[in-house]
Amino acid sequence: MTIRVRLTALSVAGAAALGLLAAPAIAAPNRPDTADRVEVFGHRGASGYRPEHTLASYELAARMGADYIEPDLVPTKDGVLVARHENEIGGTTDVATHPEFADRKTTKVIDGVEMTGWFTEDFTLAELKTLRATERIPDIRPNNTIYNGRFEVPTFQEVLDLRARLSKELRREIGVAPETKHPSYFAKLGLPLEPGVVKTLNDNGLNRPNAKVVVQSFEVGNLKELNRQLRVNLVQLISNTGAPQDFIEAGDPRTYADLVKPEGLREIAGYADVIGPDTKVILPVNPDGYLTEPTTVVADAHQAGLQVVPYTVRAENSFLPADFRSSTDQTAYGDVFSFFHALFDQGIDGIFSDNPDIAVAARDEHEAATAGR
Ligand code: G3P
Ligand code: CA
Repeated sequence: MTIRVRLTALSVAGAAALGLLAAPAIAAPNRPDTADRVEVFGHRGASGYRPEHTLASYELAARMGADYIEPDLVPTKDGVLVARHENEIGGTTDVATHPEFADRKTTKVIDGVEMTGWFTEDFTLAELKTLRATERIPDIRPNNTIYNGRFEVPTFQEVLDLRARLSKELRREIGVAPETKHPSYFAKLGLPLEPGVVKTLNDNGLNRPNAKVVVQSFEVGNLKELNRQLRVNLVQLISNTGAPQDFIEAGDPRTYADLVKPEGLREIAGYADVIGPDTKVILPVNPDGYLTEPTTVVADAHQAGLQVVPYTVRAENSFLPADFRSSTDQTAYGDVFSFFHALFDQGIDGIFSDNPDIAVAARDEHEAATAGR
């Protein structure tokens, strides 16, 4: 993956219209130049081994060789961006064991889904800092539960501080890939995510075209807004079902499936640089979970001048296509190397994984196997 220069909306759209992006340098699956290698995104850090979205998880990911660490961002009541996959924190912290917060338990509708629990927007940062992270999926990752209660919920700034420290120590720049979570929901609450993302990147000298930063969103409108304020690269995330929440709320009938058609990809190229599709958008599975024919999305995206970084490869049988499961034990590891290779064979530019160590090993193995082909 080589996103060195932030292309402007005009330059991408114009170049695409002129057919100048038909053969981007990163599109070829053979990558003898390591600068063009598939980059590994430590998904929620190294969440296969530590409770997700903790400094310990991000640090382990970087030490395992991840090129990027990935904080999902939600706001506190006092408007501080913190790293959580969702604003409901009953599933990833010990908040339920804090009697002083028992009356904060409530029911809300987030992006059309009713949820009961505790929500970051109802806690100040000082209150949130009294909580400790816990493993999200203890049944599948029981070993990770030994870390329950040991790590705080980090702020975005603390993640960037860690990134800076580890970049110096490891003598390579660790990238960061923040994701704005539920942007329409938080804008309506008066806690928009985008100003904090822009300010924090500005404050840290990271809002520049050659910064190793990519900002992600499942929505479209906020990426277009960020495109006007940020000089870093933007990732349009693509679910394998449904539609962007802002499209739904605006009555726009287009779905994610529409966005990965050539016309949709050309539109994305007007405001973003990368698509981050579910792996099933590239390698679909049948109702029994087995792989079927690959789609043309990777080639179509490259044709539009977009790079492709799918999510998320996890080693446990529970998350793998049926082709690669080792047994019916959902917690056991399957043949995750073969799943990585199947994705790399499609010519992807990066990969999100809960297991960055295995992703790096598979990437290196694939590079060696395809060198000179
Ligand atoms: O950002 C890539 C991937 O993380 C998107 O899915 O739900 O894990 O944030 P999610
Ligand atoms: Ca994410």
